[in-house]
Amino acid sequence: MKNLLEKQKYYTEKYRPQYHFTPERNWMNDPNGMVFFNGEYHLFYQYHPNGNTWGPMHWGHAVSKDLVHWEHLPIALAPDEHGAIFSGSAVVDWNDTSGFFEGKSGLVAIFTHADTYPDSDRPRQRQSVAFSKDNGRTWRKYEGNPVLQEESITDFRDPKVFWHHETNQWIMVVAAGQTVRIYSSKNLISWEFASEFGQGHGSHLGVWECPDLFQLPINGDVDQKKWVLFVSIGDNPEYPEGSRTQYFIGEFDGKSFINDYTPETALWIDYGRDNYAGVSWSDVSAEDGRRIYVGWMSNWRYANVTPTKEWRSAMTIPRVLELKKTEEGVRIVQKPIRELQSLRHEKIVIENEIVVPGQNLLANVKSNTFEIIAGFEIGEAKEFGFKVCKGTNEETIIGYNLENQTLFVDRTHSGEAVFHEDFGGKHESKLLPENNKITLHVLVDQSSVELFGNDGVSVLTDLIFPNQESKQIELYAKNGKVKLNSLELYTLKSAWR
Ligand code: FRU
Repeated sequence: MKNLLEKQKYYTEKYRPQYHFTPERNWMNDPNGMVFFNGEYHLFYQYHPNGNTWGPMHWGHAVSKDLVHWEHLPIALAPDEHGAIFSGSAVVDWNDTSGFFEGKSGLVAIFTHADTYPDSDRPRQRQSVAFSKDNGRTWRKYEGNPVLQEESITDFRDPKVFWHHETNQWIMVVAAGQTVRIYSSKNLISWEFASEFGQGHGSHLGVWECPDLFQLPINGDVDQKKWVLFVSIGDNPEYPEGSRTQYFIGEFDGKSFINDYTPETALWIDYGRDNYAGVSWSDVSAEDGRRIYVGWMSNWRYANVTPTKEWRSAMTIPRVLELKKTEEGVRIVQKPIRELQSLRHEKIVIENEIVVPGQNLLANVKSNTFEIIAGFEIGEAKEFGFKVCKGTNEETIIGYNLENQTLFVDRTHSGEAVFHEDFGGKHESKLLPENNKITLHVLVDQSSVELFGNDGVSVLTDLIFPNQESKQIELYAKNGKVKLNSLELYTLKSAWR
């Protein structure tokens, strides 16, 4: 039980996100084991309970009924004789294929055990399982762990498992250096190699990690589905982007993944710097039908030195994934989950206004925890958008540049940035107007910005570390006017207090 003073201070530290998931204390990285079961969304995560930098990995744990309000639970998995607990997934074993549940249903986690080979410092990464008969409250590791090993592969981790209806078996995708390997199983314990994908495909600028494979309809048409393969690629000091996540679109028959695009095509889920290792929730009900994912809102380039101490790192807002036909081909679109609307508080609406350079229609608004949905009609202005978390010497610029047709977040002067030389800067992505319009959906939460352009066709996620008093918001146009068709701004309540 918290006393009154603790309650008043809870989640009020400088930079503490108010509607994003953060652990109460200490270090967090990848989201793990996301599964929906008996009315609860589970979120496990890479966790170092004894420090605010990366260390011996555990699985931290939280549950939520709405993906917005989370209840912290005790650590689910801790290191043991096989090593630390790296990333992985969880599934509902509905029909007790594993035999862990006496004919009932239960949760099975499939994760990487990480240690080193005996008498050597060569990393050893092997896949193991654990199960829970009480809605994830307590876990037992399987006695026969590890269940899958490949001695010749050094980087072999982050198993993501799902039930493949068409072939009646479990499928595991797991990262293997510069490829993804696919295995199948009838019982989650004995795994058979099926295929390997990735050589020569997509980006290989870093080690492949945290794959996910799932099927989605195109433009909502269930008769036209495609398989999507997410692959995160690790930080490589030779490239400015640090760690980031690519995806492939193609076919999967229960054995092999076939890429629809040419091997050199590289598609990215996010053009900001802070969305990594994202994977999706398993077992979301068929009535709901959504494919929801969350990413780790940081970057290996500087994750260990970001300027927070009580906790370190947040998750992105959970996002719904869809496939959309665009001029360039089929692409992933992402939208914040609708449940976030429950936090909406004050509302400001503007309709059919002209944004004139030098005038700020939002001059009276002050907030650093808010959401904006705005629709612009392309006109004279060469650039337009918002300056957020604006104070005496700082601002983060979020906008659209018409000449370059780019959506961007500029955090060069966003606040604290000296903790790492690669932190400052401007990040952009290509975005074409649709029917001469650009929509910007912006989420700002103390120390992060998420920008969804044209209903999530293009997305940028960036951390920022502004002064807590920098709460001004400016709606701006540069080199000419722009027509604002509509704008809704909502301040958002805290999900934690
Ligand atoms: C990705 C990753 C995974 C690994 C985990 C370790 O961020 O490197 O590949 O399982 O983090 O914490």
